[in-house]
Amino acid sequence: MNDPTAWTLVDEGWGRRAVDFATLSEPGNCREYVAVHQHLGVGDGDRLLDIACGAGLALELASVRGADVAGIDASARLVAVARDRSPDADIRVGDMHDLPWDDASFDVVTSFRGVWGTTPLALQEIHRVLKSGGRVGLTVWGHIKNSPGAWALAPFRLAAPPKVDNQRNMVALGRPGVGEELLEKFGFTEVRRVTVPFAWEFADPAVYARALASTGPAYEAIQNVGDEAFAEAAIETAKERLRAGLPLRASIDVVGYLARKEA
Ligand SMILES: C[S@@+](CC[C@H](N)C(=O)[O-])C[C@H]1O[C@@H](n2cnc3c(N)ncnc32)[C@H](O)[C@@H]1O
Repeated sequence: MNDPTAWTLVDEGWGRRAVDFATLSEPGNCREYVAVHQHLGVGDGDRLLDIACGAGLALELASVRGADVAGIDASARLVAVARDRSPDADIRVGDMHDLPWDDASFDVVTSFRGVWGTTPLALQEIHRVLKSGGRVGLTVWGHIKNSPGAWALAPFRLAAPPKVDNQRNMVALGRPGVGEELLEKFGFTEVRRVTVPFAWEFADPAVYARALASTGPAYEAIQNVGDEAFAEAAIETAKERLRAGLPLRASIDVVGYLARKEA
């Protein structure tokens, strides 16, 4: 983001249905949280920061593993849920490009689909707040062609063309070599790419449509076509994926980047 105040508008899209996001959407991301925490060896004695922490489920799970957790998100209404879930954690409303913590404060920094191709300077801040030898784990959407569940993201394309272009630029960070090069540019070492398990599951098309509508990119689509048309399109897409006796399931390719700040 070039405009330093742009982050203050994020809550409009991400916060307006914070309870739906926390209960219907975010829990579906749990596989990636578990996998990245496992890769990073998160545990007792780690001071961990989660950037763009959303409603704070990843934080809560890191704390179950023994970490002392902190988080930041631009959406005040998502942060309210995160604080409700983890009352003892240090969770702030703010911008990932200007982290309100001192240099070398954390052993581990994570961000789950929070840092994008459009927000590369957040990596500079991550590097600053990590202790030397500290670990970082980031995830981003991978390739649509490797995603049998790509259908579940399709309604986002109902946004106006410039917003769809921006969504495309965001996910560019998942392309081969792109994240690796960026992490190295900001001084990280031992950069590794891993495949991260990711599958959303929904009880039925209406639940799927409601869950999807709670997200930021859905807000961009809804601004363009309205609530009703968005819900109709999402339900129609999901109906084609129904399977008798099984949940709607969308497996999506997610790339994980693991790295270290040099010791
Ligand atoms: C795709 S969601 C990921 C949320 C959470 N990490 C998860 O796993 O569900 C992106 C998050 O980034 C937050 N966000 C967007 N811009 C931000 C910024 N400049 N600083 C901090 N958070 C931001 C949004 O409020 C939203 O919670």
